Amino acid sequence: MDQYVIKGGNPLVGEVEIGGAKNAALAILAAAIMTNETVVVENLPDVRDINVLLEAMEKIGAKIERLDSHSVKINSSQIGNFSVDYEYIKRIRASYYLLGALLGKYKRAAVPLPGGCNIGSRPIDQHLKGFKALGADVKIEYGFIVTEAEQLRGSHIYLDVVSVGATINIMMAAAMAEGSTVLENAAKEPHVVDVANFLNSMGANIKGAGTDVIRIKGVERLHSTEYSIIPDQIEAGTFMFAAAATMGDVTVKNVIPKHLEATTSKLLEIGCEIEELDDAVRVVSSKRLKSTNVKTLPYPGFPTDMQPQITVALALAKGTSIVTESIFDNRFKYVDELARMGANIKVEGNTAIIDGTLQYTGARISSPDLRAGAALVIAGLAADGYTVIDDVHFIERGYERFDEKLRSLGAIIEKVEDERDIQKFRLKVG
Ligand code: EPZ
Repeated sequence: MDQYVIKGGNPLVGEVEIGGAKNAALAILAAAIMTNETVVVENLPDVRDINVLLEAMEKIGAKIERLDSHSVKINSSQIGNFSVDYEYIKRIRASYYLLGALLGKYKRAAVPLPGGCNIGSRPIDQHLKGFKALGADVKIEYGFIVTEAEQLRGSHIYLDVVSVGATINIMMAAAMAEGSTVLENAAKEPHVVDVANFLNSMGANIKGAGTDVIRIKGVERLHSTEYSIIPDQIEAGTFMFAAAATMGDVTVKNVIPKHLEATTSKLLEIGCEIEELDDAVRVVSSKRLKSTNVKTLPYPGFPTDMQPQITVALALAKGTSIVTESIFDNRFKYVDELARMGANIKVEGNTAIIDGTLQYTGARISSPDLRAGAALVIAGLAADGYTVIDDVHFIERGYERFDEKLRSLGAIIEKVEDERDIQKFRLKVG
């Protein structure tokens, strides 16, 4: 099993290029099967989740041609199987985007019901409510969500909770329904807008993405397109908090600064300096961080996917901070690992009360999930001494060449396989 070994204490300094947004890419790839014509998707991140989804798409009959590590050509004219294997949903929940895409195009789909995951129970009732409102029959049978419709019909749908996944899944199905759909209380995340833009580039008629109300006029067919995915705001934010926690000076390049506003405003509050350029943001951290309070919220609020990263920084800040997680019910698992590095954090329900410590000390820890894993790497980079992080496969689900990008900023980090590699690393770096 791969691990990261880190010698902490070096401020991160330099520039880092941010890749395409994983969570936009997952939905866009699924939506690409909604046309028989060829689609080219560019600026894909080369990460595990994307590669698994592409395998799932191949398995149902899509033709996938890798143009290079960040672009792919997809032709779905030969799709003959409308059922997605459990193997894929187990490895990546977002394979459920194939449900909305297949239902929209072929009016039928069967996808295994995803279970909970490491960050909490994750119901998909709102996705199913949307499909039913569009006139689909939806059943749970033998562990699968089985849905079909003779004809999908536009409808007025109000989401009871703001859900990124439900907004996207319903938008895909409604894009090829007969008539108009109004989707209210929709998620406004930049990747929701990106998926709408992608579908529109294939001939869909979707208006209002990025606001609470999305209006979709169904079309009969979608056509070929070439599309480039937006930059990953969470990858960018992760490097920004890494700069903050290590007293560094990092410029994240190829970003849309507007998408990072919740992150930059918190960094300013805790005492970092921020310089915003057209497509880059520079974070300078030159004195001990200050405490603050933060609550995760749907966009444009502070993203839950940045909650572990800000917590790692706040645990080094002067004073007491409170972090409230309002999206998922079990997203503080990593706090016990952080405590092993010297953090003083008390979790009560969905709130973490953090009493800042002056410095972390390196320890052997495990990554419980994708974002928490990246946050623990930040802690290791800020810590005195060596940190070994197990289960880095979680991190590789969503961060491309994470260790390499960090090394380019001066971090001392390597991916290793066993104890011998760890000893070699220690001998090498002293
Ligand atoms: C997406 O998950 C992201 N995943 C998550 O990123 C992200 O944390 C999350 O949005 C919130 O921003 C992808 O885009 C692939 P939701 P999703 O539906 O769509 C409840 C990462 O680290 N809910 O917006 O599953 C749900 O339980 C991952 O990259 C219902 O109750 O999130 C949660 O409390 C982790 N019923 C809240 O809504 C539903 O039918 C928001 O979930 C759907 C959701």
